Amino acid sequence: MTRSHITTTAGAPWPDNQDSKSAGARGPLLLENYQLIEKLAHQNRERIPERTVHAKGSGAFGHFTVTQDITHLSCADVFSAVGKKTELLARFSTVAGERGAADAERDVRGFSLKFYTGEGNWDLVGNNTPVFFVRDPMKFPDFIHTQKRHPRTNMRSATAMWDFWSLSPESLHQVAILFSDRGLPQGYRFMNGYGSHTFSLWNASGERFWVKFHFKTQQGHRFWTNDEANDIIGRNRETSQADLYDAIERQEFPRWTMYIQVMREDEAERVDFNPFDITKVWSHKDYPLHEVGVVELNRNPENYFAEIEQSSFSPSNIVPGIGFSPDKMLQGRLFAYADAHRYRVGTHYEALPVNRPKVPVRTYHMDGPMRFDATEGSDAYYEPNSFDGPAEARQAIEPPLRVSGEATYYAHRDDGDDYAQPRALYRLFDDAQRQRFHTNIASAMVGVPRHIVERQLSHFERADPVWARGVRENLEREVPVGHASSATNQEMTEPGAR
Ligand code: HEM
Repeated sequence: MTRSHITTTAGAPWPDNQDSKSAGARGPLLLENYQLIEKLAHQNRERIPERTVHAKGSGAFGHFTVTQDITHLSCADVFSAVGKKTELLARFSTVAGERGAADAERDVRGFSLKFYTGEGNWDLVGNNTPVFFVRDPMKFPDFIHTQKRHPRTNMRSATAMWDFWSLSPESLHQVAILFSDRGLPQGYRFMNGYGSHTFSLWNASGERFWVKFHFKTQQGHRFWTNDEANDIIGRNRETSQADLYDAIERQEFPRWTMYIQVMREDEAERVDFNPFDITKVWSHKDYPLHEVGVVELNRNPENYFAEIEQSSFSPSNIVPGIGFSPDKMLQGRLFAYADAHRYRVGTHYEALPVNRPKVPVRTYHMDGPMRFDATEGSDAYYEPNSFDGPAEARQAIEPPLRVSGEATYYAHRDDGDDYAQPRALYRLFDDAQRQRFHTNIASAMVGVPRHIVERQLSHFERADPVWARGVRENLEREVPVGHASSATNQEMTEPGAR
């Protein structure tokens, strides 16, 4: 069998891929060596801007199978029959680190699912935590700045993190989860996923229900202590990637059971808490978990860049039968993601194979970078038209939502008790968990100015005095980390110096 040969991107044969064309054996290179120019130019374009958050990630394909009937709650194609299977893509990530960050860092994990349903893509872009640090999207960029590098030192800043958290008591619940054992899972297989926000489902009779999505790991929870993680990072920075990839190659397919909590639409107006506040969970006693189906991941991507780096998830991708909610954070996210994709991946990012729905796409968007398919039907390129172009799908309109109140800037700070749920969580920890929790917090506070530490301790105190005391005792034992460099090797030989 003859081997296929390399070509230029224009398909012409590529004669030499080892040597550049030069004027004489030791002479300068010729500009006419187009293959060299094409090769170097392509290398310059091998990266796209990384995600501003959740840059380091891993992903795999699989499917979702319905195990319980919820057609009385939703008319979505994905839930239409018990046993129905829908293809999906999952991408997991850490939040703060850049693309090269180590996997075994204490951080929230992203848990993104793209369901390729029979009525378009449904993206559930959640985390491994049921709550979040802030409850108003106006605060999100500030919060993320505290997780990223300081503009002058170019280092992560514990001061910025604790300053922001201590000035934002609504963050306490998520801070408690972050510094608990769940803040450092051994891999993506060993953690739960949550839609986190309140979403809505609506059925064929036009009734709306508020829901929370939960994905419980069938692999069990596994975590690392800080010391274990420090040791592991020194040996392997891709632990979560390796764990997920290798498990799928071994055909040990990871699975999560999907559950929902359900609240009737009118009930939201009567409950004594804000059901649309992402810093709070819904009591499992009052709103029990109902099983819906199972997510299984069973296929690794063939090409990481094409299928995972360019995968584009957005909470705005919903399908008939599934809807948003008034959660302010969710509302903010509906803008942010597709905007990021158009900038980062390209105008027509949804046309890439990994993002493309498995159903026909018929829009009236035209032209622009990456437009490599053609608008169907040459005359129907605007709407309305007389040439049988696609028409709007009125049946997909969700039931109307009743809203009330005056438009103004409502102080999100006044929205409920920031301490009750973190207190309840803390009181579930056993002694060993509390010990690790106190140590994890104290070691993350090293170098933070005293007045900021004290402000944060006052929040711990309000949640539970034992919590504050535990952290304080550990703080007194902590030794600030200095900047002493390891011994330099003065004797190192300069190559070619002899
Ligand atoms: C990624 C914005 C809150 C989960 C991103 C990205 C942006 C963003 C711009 C990068 C998207 C890209 O470049 O592809 C925001 C804003 C938020 C917010 C403005 C609040 C107003 C949240 C919350 C969650 C979350 C509350 C979880 C409950 C994620 C995940 C990713 C992500 C999992 C990675 C998606 C992927 O795998 O590609 N976010 N985010 N974000 N965000 Fe958020």
